[in-house]
Amino acid sequence: MTAPKHFLDIHDHELAVLRTIFDRALALKADLRSGEIDRSMVGKTLVMIFEKPSTRTRVSFQVGFQQMGGMTVVMGDQESQVGRGESWADTARVLSRYADAIMIRTDDPQKLRELAEYATVPVINGLTDASHPCQIMADVMTYEEHRGPIAGRTVSWVGDGNNVTTSWIHAAVKLGFILKIACPEILPPNAGVVAWAIENGADIRLEETAEAAVAGSDLVITDTWVSMGDENPELRRQVLLPYRVDPALMAKADPDALFMHCLPAHRGDEVTDEVLDGPQSVIWDEAENRLHAQKGILSWCLE
Ligand code: CP
Ligand code: NVA
Repeated sequence: MTAPKHFLDIHDHELAVLRTIFDRALALKADLRSGEIDRSMVGKTLVMIFEKPSTRTRVSFQVGFQQMGGMTVVMGDQESQVGRGESWADTARVLSRYADAIMIRTDDPQKLRELAEYATVPVINGLTDASHPCQIMADVMTYEEHRGPIAGRTVSWVGDGNNVTTSWIHAAVKLGFILKIACPEILPPNAGVVAWAIENGADIRLEETAEAAVAGSDLVITDTWVSMGDENPELRRQVLLPYRVDPALMAKADPDALFMHCLPAHRGDEVTDEVLDGPQSVIWDEAENRLHAQKGILSWCLE
């Protein structure tokens, strides 16, 4: 039996695989718009496990797989036997007998890795506390649709050093852009991931201030100050205030710079309405591209 083609993190894959997925995502997007819908998932089933809330991931995976003719089953954390102690390994073995692919959103990345180790069908990471690779696939696709190749461009991350930051760092290793990061001292990006990325040739620059990170940038990104499961929201708010993306901060970037946010946004906290709704923001295209990018991922996993 050949090993299943999981999509657990961006850095697990060769650049050629990532490029195949982007090309498929673009082709599937074009097909959908022209009315020639790809039906390659007819007769296939995707099981989705959500141990955390979701709007975009849940709906875009479900709509995308069904557009391609497949069936979906969604399980919440109160609905499975995992909550009563069944192991992820056994759950993986069982679900593999019913489904052609499994998507999971969970807290601990170890659960994802255990599921993938024992599943005999592809497993896709729909977010953990450690990373969010499907989001960054959609983000890179969105950048390239608007501005062309991301290689050689400067991408800036300002705010909390979280799971989304980590997937951007993984992407920087593979896709050849400069990544400037500014986070408060007590909320840094994962130090081990930064060190690994630099060792593997990524151009990652840790900056002291949001202004320094954004200076001359081609793409400015932020995320919520309080991720799902985070504690001490008030302390976070306090230390993250200097990292709010407002028009004054955007003005430090290249005049052609884009703004992205994976959403959900907390308007007035990490980003102001003027930026979110302004001409540089591509947040709705970014959200739409979750659908197309994930169809590309599913198509690669199940080919
Ligand atoms: N960006 C994102 O993953 O959104 P959801 O939490 O709504 O799925
Ligand atoms: N960093 C956020 C992303 C939500 C899509 C979280 O983990 O809650």
